[in-house]
Amino acid sequence: MKSDGGGGLYDDPVVYDILASPGTAAELDVLDGIVATWAVLEDGPRLWLEPACGTGRCLREWAARGRRAVGFDVSAAMVRHARRRLRRRGQSATAEVLVADMAACGHLLPPGEVDVAYLPDNSFRHLPDDRAALAHLDGMARLLRPGGVHVLGLSLTSPQGEPPDEDVWTASRGGIRVTQVVNYLPPGPDGIGPRLERVISHLVVSRAGVEEHRDHVYDLRTYTPRQWDALLGRSGLQRLACLDRLGTPRAGRDLPYQLEVLARRD
Ligand SMILES: C[S@@+](CC[C@H](N)C(=O)[O-])C[C@H]1O[C@@H](n2cnc3c(N)ncnc32)[C@H](O)[C@@H]1O
Repeated sequence: MKSDGGGGLYDDPVVYDILASPGTAAELDVLDGIVATWAVLEDGPRLWLEPACGTGRCLREWAARGRRAVGFDVSAAMVRHARRRLRRRGQSATAEVLVADMAACGHLLPPGEVDVAYLPDNSFRHLPDDRAALAHLDGMARLLRPGGVHVLGLSLTSPQGEPPDEDVWTASRGGIRVTQVVNYLPPGPDGIGPRLERVISHLVVSRAGVEEHRDHVYDLRTYTPRQWDALLGRSGLQRLACLDRLGTPRAGRDLPYQLEVLARRD
């Protein structure tokens, strides 16, 4: 089985979806605003693509909005789950899900077929090296229609180094309550490697009065602003805009997370 890079975190799509889904509609409203501003598609977007789609939370929302969508993920468990959820909602004719790798996505669909692609939440940083990252960006350049956009969300690393950080997320659905505490250990002399951020996830899953604890450890590749710019400069995509999580232009600010609006070079 191919690795999904999540150290087992993505092996239980039900639990992952409980954590990931809240706020999806508002997040895709922001994406719609970005597309309205930056894509140049006379007849509007026809096909929406989510690389590394996980449980398909965006696909379900796009389908609910009447859009034709395709998602893919390297994890067969995620793809099975996403298909099942779409089928249950009667959305299978509008949205389809495939097993595929971000680094080999250029021939997944006919060239120029995709109008909007959305790769949020640092999933891009699962790609292990420049070769895989470039293969993804070039693959997307092949798939995008001229005038279409690939909106890629990532956190960059300060070249000066960063302190360890922590996030805590809690969500509930159908009698299951999930809390996730995530610790991020930055690269550097005490870290795991020169370009790897170590992510340590502790999940508490409570159902029917029983509490289960699960630990997952995985690494995400890091990019300083200079490394990201250099990689992008070698790819078939160019930056149209750099925005914050709400779609507001960066305008010189240091952002903890940014949405890169990318388009074909030609
Ligand atoms: C943080 S989750 C995001 C899922 C989804 N995009 C969302 O926002 O809910 C990252 C996903 O990336 C997938 N993934 C990791 N490496 C991948 C690769 N090389 N190609 C395709 N999917 C990959 C994992 O299986 C997982 O579902």
